[in-house]
Amino acid sequence: MDDSPPLNRQLDSEVVASLEQLQDRLVATELKPSDALELASRYPVIGIGRARLAVAISDQQIVKVAWRAAGITDNAVELAIWQTAPEHIRRWLAPGVDIFGYGLLLMPFCRIARDHSGVALMISQLTSYGISDTISNLGEYRGRLVCYDYASTSSDLFNRLEPVLRQLD
Ligand SMILES: Nc1ncnc2c1ncn2[C@@H]1O[C@H](COP(=O)(O)OP(=O)(O)O)[C@@H](O)[C@H]1O
Ligand SMILES: [Mg+2]
Repeated sequence: MDDSPPLNRQLDSEVVASLEQLQDRLVATELKPSDALELASRYPVIGIGRARLAVAISDQQIVKVAWRAAGITDNAVELAIWQTAPEHIRRWLAPGVDIFGYGLLLMPFCRIARDHSGVALMISQLTSYGISDTISNLGEYRGRLVCYDYASTSSDLFNRLEPVLRQLD
């Protein structure tokens, strides 16, 4: 049974300002991942990928902060996918809650996935929808296996998202 509390859909304006300031500093220069982590060391960073850091803002939620400029677009792509994908695709995705400030994506915190049953179906459905790279980004959310990084898309899917991305801009 899912007895977890509902998601907080708001982000405190002071948190937004502080994370925006961090993101500005990170994307201003070409950094190595280790330098990005060093610059973000006073924040509770729980993960770093190719363009984004996940910063915990509570034990329930994280914010994705770009450390490379591409991460800002990745955040918008993820939210656009979440907002437009059909239910059989959304069931495999960590929900995108909203974007705050300049491109900060609020998302629920996903635990490490323990049960990988269904992963073959997940990969085949997400891949046919145009979402790639799912296997290296698996988490567990409310007892479900989910992908928490779904910003790598086929060019077809990206083109389909374009009108939504324009609205998020
Ligand atoms: N919703 C989440 N819950 C828990 N950890 C996350 C979540 N989203 C991302 N992470 C952690 O942050 C890292 C970077 O985020 P990710 O979305 O994969 O960025 P990138 O697109 O740069 O690879 C992930 O590899 C993972 O360790
Ligand atoms: Mg990733």
